[in-house]
Amino acid sequence: MSGRIKRIGVLTSGGDNPGLNACIRAVVRTSISRGAEIFGIRRGFDGLIKGDMDAMDSRSVSNIIRRGGTILSTARCPEFFTEEGRLKALKVLRENEIDGIVVIGGNGSLMGAFELHKLGFPVIGVPGTIDNDVNGTDISIGVDTALNTIIEAIDKIKDTASSHNRTFLIETMGRSSGYLALSSGIAGGAEMVLIPEVETSFDEIVDTVRNSYKKGKSHCIIVVAEGWKPGTKELAEKINEIGKEYEFSVRVTQLGHVQRGGDASAFDRILATKLGAAAAEALISGKSGEIVGILGSDITFTPLEEAISYEKQIDKKLYALAEIMAK
Ligand code: F6P
Repeated sequence: MSGRIKRIGVLTSGGDNPGLNACIRAVVRTSISRGAEIFGIRRGFDGLIKGDMDAMDSRSVSNIIRRGGTILSTARCPEFFTEEGRLKALKVLRENEIDGIVVIGGNGSLMGAFELHKLGFPVIGVPGTIDNDVNGTDISIGVDTALNTIIEAIDKIKDTASSHNRTFLIETMGRSSGYLALSSGIAGGAEMVLIPEVETSFDEIVDTVRNSYKKGKSHCIIVVAEGWKPGTKELAEKINEIGKEYEFSVRVTQLGHVQRGGDASAFDRILATKLGAAAAEALISGKSGEIVGILGSDITFTPLEEAISYEKQIDKKLYALAEIMAK
């Protein structure tokens, strides 16, 4: 262990996702194995500002590897985005003799992590968000489990859609990212995917629906990302109008927060364990201001400043593939 980092803090921030607990467990057990003390900070940056934290040991993370949610709780904390809030947090960290922290969360949380790093405080970020919109990693913790949840829903909806000859609009999460919609659309065999990154007109959508029935399909499944504009409700109204002509009706299923919960998949447990362990190791070896991720099959580190500086792009080839598969 380096001379500097003797006591580590860990927090989860922003929207929760399955795999956070596996990551906390990895941070805790790696820190302990390297002779560092570890403190769990509750409710993200909000708990940090209020000094809400406790020492953790190996037993405090027993039997949590599979569990969704986060044993540390999480929050979105606007106060941390003020200078006053950040200085309060820094004071708390100093008072509690914490030498460095691991921040697990999505883009907003990683921006917070970068702010702490800018104040000279050692911090390593770990990408945890079902949206998969964090740069510096191919995949974030929670994405795989969320995708499996969505696909299970699509499969079930297809059964009822085919029985009634219906068109279904299935809305996934993803405020500004279409990753979940696109990936689940491919895996679920959807007729169409609508995502914020790709402009699609009502006419194109209506044509796709019409053609599905003309081709003899017994249903039309459209996976819509939450952030797609003008939105699922307006689309349902438009499609209903042509439904009369082709004798089908439209139903909307908004999957919502069910996508954020549940036991973590094997993939997420392993990913979270690798990233959590690497984050603790990195902090102890003196790294700061970086995000740990997985690029290809390698565990990598990317400066937080770079990771948060641009929007992650959707894979256009994957989008084209979804269109071909829907024929
Ligand atoms: O960022 C993750 C996410 O699940 C988004 O996909 C979604 O738009 C948002 O969080 C919902 O946030 P909340 O749980 O605060 O309503």
